[in-house]
Amino acid sequence: MRKIIINGGYPLRGKVKISGAKNASLAIICAALMSDEPLLLDNVPNISDIQVLLEIISIMGVKANWQGPGLLYIEPSVKIDVKAPYEQVKKLRASNLLLGPLLAKHGCASVALPGGCNIGVRPMDLHFKGLSGLGAKMSLEQGCVIGKVDKLKGARIYLDFPSVGATENIMMAACLASGQTIIENVAKEPEIVDLANFLNAMGAKVRGAGTDLIKIKGTTVLGGCKKYSIIPDRIEAGTYMVAAAATRGDVLLENIIPKHLEPFIAKLREANVSIEEGEDTIRVQAKNELKAIDIKTMPYPGFPTDMQSQMMVLLSTVPGFSTITENIFENRFQITDELKRLGAKIKTEGRLAVIEGVPTLQGTNVKATDLRAGAALLIAGLIATGKTQITNSEYIYRGYQNIQEKLNALGASVEQV
Ligand code: EPZ
Repeated sequence: MRKIIINGGYPLRGKVKISGAKNASLAIICAALMSDEPLLLDNVPNISDIQVLLEIISIMGVKANWQGPGLLYIEPSVKIDVKAPYEQVKKLRASNLLLGPLLAKHGCASVALPGGCNIGVRPMDLHFKGLSGLGAKMSLEQGCVIGKVDKLKGARIYLDFPSVGATENIMMAACLASGQTIIENVAKEPEIVDLANFLNAMGAKVRGAGTDLIKIKGTTVLGGCKKYSIIPDRIEAGTYMVAAAATRGDVLLENIIPKHLEPFIAKLREANVSIEEGEDTIRVQAKNELKAIDIKTMPYPGFPTDMQSQMMVLLSTVPGFSTITENIFENRFQITDELKRLGAKIKTEGRLAVIEGVPTLQGTNVKATDLRAGAALLIAGLIATGKTQITNSEYIYRGYQNIQEKLNALGASVEQV
């Protein structure tokens, strides 16, 4: 079990380069399995979630190796084992994104049900609805999701909820289905648009990504693409923006797409954080007294649920009463118990959290319960007086490349033991 120790109290100052998007990379690596030719991905973050997915596809027979920082070479082979290995799949929920590509390319798939995780049950009913709608026979056998089909057939599918994963699985599968597929009430996250752009770079015909309705004309072959560059990670960027504001520092983030952070920038400005947007940079300063605000997490372009824990930390030292309503996951307030140990004043009731700002937090031992809660506790350690120790810190390395080096380069004092 890995631990991180933070000596708090230093405002973050300087520049930080944001890495490629974890959630776009995971979907795009799964989509790459549909290609008949080798391909090259650029700006892929080297984080443990990616390492686990590469281990899974390698065991299945796909050749994948790093050819430089962020440069990932993938060579899908004709014969692959369509059964994703159970041990590794248990470590990575996103392995369920293998279902669509395997069904589309090989007509069968077997992926262990990743099971719930700390933030919620994470059902797959919408994945099943979509893939069955395309003609696949879906079942659950011995804890594995099994799918079988001769040839996927285009269909019209309505998503009861704009699920990111279900949108991605159905969109990928439809690319090699016969005929046209229309998916309604889809997720509109930037990662969906990035996946659609990658599929089209491989010769697919996906239209409408980023809107409520996506139209796909099935093709028979998907080729490699010279080099596809993954979008920057808006959640990594948001995490550093909160760290800069919470430590009352002055940080310039580089290699980002400000548009992807719009909902988040709006909320930080409402809290009186000063934000200067550049072409591919954002400067964050907390020059003035910050203000208590109310946040509701919603599907994109609403406030991102993956930034909820980080904002809770920021608001825990902002005078007044702030509220957070978590509308996406049913159990994403576990961090409050840990923040209370640091001196935060937070009350939760179902999906509502009420935060009463306190002057400072005091360092102590806390434990990470999931990826974003872990990152949020890191920020809490940066602002707490004295030393904070975070156990289960391996959660953090799932989604943040070189986070310790990046924070220390900004003047923090973070060490891993
Ligand atoms: C993706 O998860 C992200 N993960 C999550 O990021 C992110 O929090 C989430 O989207 C929401 O933005 C990846 O992209 C790998 P959903 P996903 O399907 O696809 C319900 C992180 O920290 N639902 O949009 O699993 C579900 O219960 C991770 O990087 C169904 O009811 O999210 C949840 O309440 C955490 N039936 C809501 O939709 C389904 O079939 C959102 O889930 C699927 C989902």
